[in-house]
Amino acid sequence: MFIKVENLKKSYRTGDVKTDVLKGVKMSLGKGEIGVILGPSGSGKSTLLNIIGGIDRCDSGKVTVDDIEVTNLTDDQLTDYRRENIGFIFQFYNLIPNLTVGENIEVVSNISRSPLDTDEVLKAVGMLDKKYRFPRELSGGEQQRVSIARAVVKNPKLLLCDEPTGALDFSTSREILKLLQQINRDFGTTILMITHNTAISAMANRVYRMRSGEIVEEIINERIIHAERIEW
Ligand SMILES: Nc1ncnc2c1ncn2[C@@H]1O[C@H](COP(=O)(O)OP(=O)(O)O)[C@@H](O)[C@H]1O
Ligand SMILES: [Mg+2]
Repeated sequence: MFIKVENLKKSYRTGDVKTDVLKGVKMSLGKGEIGVILGPSGSGKSTLLNIIGGIDRCDSGKVTVDDIEVTNLTDDQLTDYRRENIGFIFQFYNLIPNLTVGENIEVVSNISRSPLDTDEVLKAVGMLDKKYRFPRELSGGEQQRVSIARAVVKNPKLLLCDEPTGALDFSTSREILKLLQQINRDFGTTILMITHNTAISAMANRVYRMRSGEIVEEIINERIIHAERIEW
């Protein structure tokens, strides 16, 4: 398995109150697959994704990504791990406002070991003609395309998406999902995506349902639906 999570636990303490956010999560995802995490707000989805991506730490348990034992890495090693392996996409695009589209991509490609060509990636997300625009001159869907290009330019093994269509309307969301599916197919990138939208699970190889810190159900889809045909 490309991602392996075993008995993962995390809790937060505020004053005297201890909240168990992850209560022994177990899950796995194969190389080149798409996984979708569903579950209500506050169930621990982002915490799980962030620990897998090395931007948060657990209390106990084990996470392995492509044979790297993420939960054993030092802070410096985690930085390298993220830089070399992980692309993040969030609900809000976090583009740098005073840099052009092209420059937003180059900020990442400049520090990557084997980046893809900026123009090639912009072309893949349909944004090459907007290379010299600033983020404020783009629609929400276009900004998300740029943030996907920024995540993909370093040619990551794993793309982690936290509600990537959460701020977008139906048709724009579907375009973004098509793009993610295309990246998965063309670059062989493994994708793990959080969503509130049950319909999106039709495009995933595996679907995990989270409820209050646990994965209560894992479904393996025999048949993957093309994002083009997903309706909600
Ligand atoms: N830094 C933090 N300090 C205290 N509690 C937190 C912190 N981050 C998250 N939580 C709590 O952990 C729970 C799970 O959060 P999260 O993983 O963001 O859930 P989800 O993404 O499913 O909405 C929530 O109850 C949230 O309030
Ligand atoms: Mg969240």
